[in-house]
Amino acid sequence: MEITQDIRYAGVNDHNIDLFEGQYTVENGMAYNSYVILDEKTVVMDTVDTNFLEEWMQNLRQILGTRTPDYLVVQHMEPDHSANISAFLEVYPDAVIVSSAPAFNMMKQFFGTDYADRRLVVKEGDTLSLGVHTLQFIGAPMVHWPEVIVTYDRHDKVLFSADGFGKFGALDVEEDWACEARRYYFGIVGKFGMQVQNLLKKASALDIQIICPLHGPVLKDNLEYYVNLYQIWSSYSVESEGVMIAYTSVYGNTKAAALLLADKLKAKGCPKVVVADLAREDMAECMEDAFRYGKLVLATTTYNTDMFPFMREFINELIGHNYQNRTVALIENGSWAPLAAKAMRTRLETCKDITFAEHTVQIRSALNDESIAQIEALAEELCCG
Ligand code: FEO
Repeated sequence: MEITQDIRYAGVNDHNIDLFEGQYTVENGMAYNSYVILDEKTVVMDTVDTNFLEEWMQNLRQILGTRTPDYLVVQHMEPDHSANISAFLEVYPDAVIVSSAPAFNMMKQFFGTDYADRRLVVKEGDTLSLGVHTLQFIGAPMVHWPEVIVTYDRHDKVLFSADGFGKFGALDVEEDWACEARRYYFGIVGKFGMQVQNLLKKASALDIQIICPLHGPVLKDNLEYYVNLYQIWSSYSVESEGVMIAYTSVYGNTKAAALLLADKLKAKGCPKVVVADLAREDMAECMEDAFRYGKLVLATTTYNTDMFPFMREFINELIGHNYQNRTVALIENGSWAPLAAKAMRTRLETCKDITFAEHTVQIRSALNDESIAQIEALAEELCCG
């Protein structure tokens, strides 16, 4: 695939993967992107997952023809991109590895060598002339690991953005970009909003026409759309007006409360209501929705003087990913000693800028007139507040 006259796509699609990074379901597979820049000097940008060495090498041979690469730029050391560095160097022993100092330390950890005899250590602002093209390296620590650099090709105005602007899904499957990019973003770099903001600030000083990420499609058109979403996500701003109701339910009574609240919210004209059963739905999808909407309702059963396990896991995930700047409402169920609301609140009080709804719903075993009235009051508050 030709990206520009001199830049080619050399990546692969993975449809065999069960869990990306050991935890994310990827129904439509995953793409590990790699690129080749053909100039007086020839550059390969990153390698691919270990299972795809042969296919990737075949892609490189096809693109390179009789040429041999002068450089391998390693932007990120997570193995979905770095696994084939040593295999590459066996085939192309004269190539120089270009990467950050922390990345070379990681190479020593992963491969037992930091390639001291064939490396070029680069840092923020360093450039590498290839002939017509000049590569400019930009530090992007914690987007998504500390060693990450991204690379700007001044000639073609291309930003090689490492994990940034990536998404789940192989490139031979058509699907909406934002949905799987949002789930990917909040799962993988959601915790590092400030670092993503720093990178966006640096990128805003560049004239970028094309973004080449390490996952997902090459972005060529309407770049403001993608950058704007990254601005929203990384600043923990509300992307869409609406309410997410996340519940756990053992015998259906807490679920009934969650669904009743959803109906009341919709009846009152709430722009969007999303309901999720935390025991049965994909946790990363639930996280994505919690960050997408401005209001979150958590409904759960009291369990072992705490909350039901799936709710505990969900809240731990939210806290771990820096959940903040949202309104949260609580629904608890307890047949003899309801404690779940207190337990949820205590945990979420550790997050920044959380506003708790004035109305908390308490169910004693099953809905009754009193709890239904509380749900009505909460719906009113969330819709009109
Ligand atoms: Fe795609 Fe952080 O590796």
